[in-house]
Amino acid sequence: MVTFKDTALPNIIEFRNLSQTYDGGKSMILKDLNFLVEDKPGQGQFVVILGASGCGKSTLLRYIAGLQKPTSGEVLLRDKPVEQSGVRAGMVFQQYSSLPWRTVLENVELGLDYKGVEEKERRLKAQEMLELVGLAGHEHKYAVYPTLSGGQLQRVAIARSLIANPEILLMDEPFGALDINTRLQMQDMLEEVWLKFQPTIVFVTHDIEEAVYLGDDIYIMAANPGRFVHHVTVDLPFNRNLEVKHSVHFNELVRQVEDKMIEVSAMSK
Ligand SMILES: Nc1ncnc2c1ncn2[C@@H]1O[C@H](COP(=O)(O)OP(=O)(O)OP(=O)(O)O)[C@@H](O)[C@H]1O
Ligand SMILES: [Mg+2]
Repeated sequence: MVTFKDTALPNIIEFRNLSQTYDGGKSMILKDLNFLVEDKPGQGQFVVILGASGCGKSTLLRYIAGLQKPTSGEVLLRDKPVEQSGVRAGMVFQQYSSLPWRTVLENVELGLDYKGVEEKERRLKAQEMLELVGLAGHEHKYAVYPTLSGGQLQRVAIARSLIANPEILLMDEPFGALDINTRLQMQDMLEEVWLKFQPTIVFVTHDIEEAVYLGDDIYIMAANPGRFVHHVTVDLPFNRNLEVKHSVHFNELVRQVEDKMIEVSAMSK
């Protein structure tokens, strides 16, 4: 059982006693799962979820995005059921999710389409966002591999999510398919973007160093059935950089999370 931070701050994401079953109840994926993320107005939060493959991490993100409902239990955003909450949530998937027959600029503009924003303004905003994620000069290329690299395609997806100014940004192993150098660059870019926009980010990864480098709070899930079993507070400086990564405390935190993951893997059989 994990005790969640529950202070006077307003709640932004809450799961109450979620269960998810398939096959008419024969397959129990999540059981009595609880989770709470508080909103830090004007600051946002960076929450990381770690856990073995199949424990239900992507399922949890789909609940928040309103793409799926649990078999039982409540999913609340700002204390209201997802569909009544009006909370804007954006999602970045592991697989590239851009439309390959549209250009980079058009893909990013798509994030604004539904709001009926005028074309000129849409262009301008998309352009701004592309600069921010380091894609200036690539606007008119098609958003398809290998015209764009894997890292560039994820930059497009991040820009598209951000342009709608989401209160919650859901990221499902967004850098999992990238080589190590690109991954490290993307982590720094994401941190910059986060500091600028300050959404609440829920980030799923299998990479422990990535979790410690980016997260304020790391929640660890066990599987069979999926539930939260550990919480690690990352008490590192707000602005992360190479110096932080090379610090003794960073490495202590990585070891601490690694130990917990080993323990969890024994609990998940
Ligand atoms: N429609 C479905 N029918 C049956 N089982 C399903 C269905 N959808 C998901 N599952 C199961 O739910 C479990 C949780 O899936 P989920 O994708 O959330 O896991 P995950 O933690 O994101 O895993 P990974 O780390 O591999 O991405 C998996 O065991 C999956 O097989
Ligand atoms: Mg997943």
